[in-house]
Amino acid sequence: PKMQPLAGIKLMLTAGPTREPLDPVRFLSNHSSGKMGFALAAAAAALGAEVTLVSGPVALATPAGVTRIDVESARQMHQAVMRHIGSQHIFVACAAVADYAPRTVAEQKIKKTDSDTLVIELTKNPDIVAEVAALPGKPFTVGFAAETRDVEKYARDKLSRKGLDMIAANDVSLAGQGFNSDDNALTVFWPAGRAELPLAGKTELARHLMTLIAEKYNETH
Ligand code: PMT
Repeated sequence: PKMQPLAGIKLMLTAGPTREPLDPVRFLSNHSSGKMGFALAAAAAALGAEVTLVSGPVALATPAGVTRIDVESARQMHQAVMRHIGSQHIFVACAAVADYAPRTVAEQKIKKTDSDTLVIELTKNPDIVAEVAALPGKPFTVGFAAETRDVEKYARDKLSRKGLDMIAANDVSLAGQGFNSDDNALTVFWPAGRAELPLAGKTELARHLMTLIAEKYNETH
């Protein structure tokens, strides 16, 4: 096998959480640390790819040789991806993007009132990976699926519904893997097959997944 199977390939990744603002000091978010996506960016660069990493707010250093674009909200991530996607050969969506955002962002800090309940109305965010996969001349598109049950069923459903070439599913109900841990395990699905990538550090796991992505990409291009 070639040492640099992604030489000459432009690969874009999303990583980390998004923050959906409620008011000047509050937001809705999740526990993604960015570790999985940053490890994938490093692995892709090591395989020779020209890597662009669109990242939500995380506390991680940019891997060597990787171009990084920082964003906060899902809408900003969507904009950054769409601005640069035209020239990309491969797109990997590892970010934990908020499906919904507060419908309005209060201009001033929301005040506590006498009422015991507060209702926040949410609206749907753009589905970044689905939109990329629907582009004419779309890049080879890899999604993730974070599931707490029926992992294969929901992952295969996302693979076909979002029109992806590949999906990496993690069971985020298991302790010590998934969100904000150093280790993870993935089951990867593509239309004609699957692969198990067993529990390992995210750096090692990312090397395995990126090698598999390079293999499948090079088979079809
Ligand atoms: O960051 P770490 O702490 O290392 O944790 C890694 C991880 C658990 C976050 C990662 O392995 C992972 O599973 N990422 C995807 C999390 C997620 O949001 O999954 P989902 O099943 O909700 O989304 C499915 C796919 O659609 C994902 O590729 C997601 O990036 C994408 N998506 C979702 C919503 C949206 N509005 N736009 C999207 O592109």
